[in-house]
Amino acid sequence: MPLLIRNGEIITADARYHADVYVEDQTITRIGRDLEAPPGCEVIDATGKLVFPGFIDPHVHIYLPFMSTFAKDTYRTASTAALAGGTTTLIEMCCPSRQEDALAGYELWKSKAEGQSACDYTFHMAVTRFDETTEAQLRQIVADGISSFKIFLSYKNFFGVEDGEMYRTLTLARELGVIVTAHCENAELVARLQAALLAEGKTGPEWHEPSRPELVEAEGTARFAAFLEATGASGYVVHLSCEPALKAALAAKARGVRLAVETVIPHLLLDKTYAERPDFEGARYVMSPPLRDARNHKPLWDALQMGLIDTVGTDHCPFDLEQKELGRGDFTRIPNGIPALEDRVNLLYTYGVSRGSLDLHRFVDAASTRAARLFGLFPRKGTVAVGSDADLVVYDPHYRGVISAATQHVNNDYNGFEGMEIDGRPEVVTVRGRVMVRGGQFVGEYGYGQFLRRPTAQAQTAVLEEAPA
Ligand code: URP
Ligand code: ZN
Ligand code: ZN
Ligand code: ZN
Repeated sequence: MPLLIRNGEIITADARYHADVYVEDQTITRIGRDLEAPPGCEVIDATGKLVFPGFIDPHVHIYLPFMSTFAKDTYRTASTAALAGGTTTLIEMCCPSRQEDALAGYELWKSKAEGQSACDYTFHMAVTRFDETTEAQLRQIVADGISSFKIFLSYKNFFGVEDGEMYRTLTLARELGVIVTAHCENAELVARLQAALLAEGKTGPEWHEPSRPELVEAEGTARFAAFLEATGASGYVVHLSCEPALKAALAAKARGVRLAVETVIPHLLLDKTYAERPDFEGARYVMSPPLRDARNHKPLWDALQMGLIDTVGTDHCPFDLEQKELGRGDFTRIPNGIPALEDRVNLLYTYGVSRGSLDLHRFVDAASTRAARLFGLFPRKGTVAVGSDADLVVYDPHYRGVISAATQHVNNDYNGFEGMEIDGRPEVVTVRGRVMVRGGQFVGEYGYGQFLRRPTAQAQTAVLEEAPA
């Protein structure tokens, strides 16, 4: 059935105008004033609303065996949460451990999504080991439509790679036109500092941040950048949390290293005092890199506004309170992760655009367009244009609400942003022309979400185009 979204204000990364959007066969086929609705066409009135391109979360964990347990979401719960929050495409980290084969892991992760997702999805393929068998497997995965890898410089002996493996991964990525995303923390320093703190009897969640101080992340970021420079590969730092790491990334960008930067919503809005809350409540706020001193917020927001931080993702990774208990008496065993998939767009809109100083177009760029460009989805995703997929968010900027675990769709028993006000919400959300959210409520269909095959080489160009002059 065709769909007409009438009289909204279309907001893209670089334009703002009032128009109707007409959708046929999953695609935007016309944009203009006073478009006719043919018989049988569904009409949605978007008067007084903003019409954004569907938002893209470039950093999500759904199926994740990690720290002796499993992240809580399924593709059904995660895609419901994503869509309720305006995210129409998510990129999940496919993370087999070092003990598993890449290809077997890839097939397993794909099978978890198959027939289950309501939103569109794809994967960053984690390279957690690089031995004689790895290269052929990665070539096969790339040929299946995966044009980004993930490496962890942290999580020694589980996901973490050695420098030699990073070099080989980047060399292959460069050859294939694949962008490499990286979790940048020095694994050796983390292991040593954790052991030293535990030996002093410092076991609570408040010691998580001191065990991975800012310099640990700055070192990882600088080292990743140096390896990118040496290999000529394109890279993307995930969940950057602090000014010293930002400086390392910006220094690399300034000297021409092909590097893009992601921060995540917890690092823009929460700080380390949350992890210092008494009675083990702090465990809810344990993620890596850790929540930082609040003095980091302004440099991150400023860099985001200037486009020096490219994207805002979530690093969505839910563990419930019982799972967090695994680390009572030893903070190194607290499952790492703060879920935010459902709330990212509303929080960034509220504390960026509505109350802060984030430009409306930069908001769209950081939460949708730039991820599409970096990860080979543009212009199919990430914009409102004739020929693009009809992934649309009709956003009500007059809605007022409060975030609460009691009303969330994420499969978890707490919300790290509990009680925070939001100035707006998605009223209607479409995925390829199908209405998935109506009146703010999920009305979608599981299994409708598609696996997105992505071309290689697009990322290389995008990273260069975004680089500062
Ligand atoms: O704490 C985090 N970030 N959990 C998810 C795994 C990762 O490092 O992205
Ligand atoms: Zn208005
Ligand atoms: Zn990470
Ligand atoms: Zn992550």
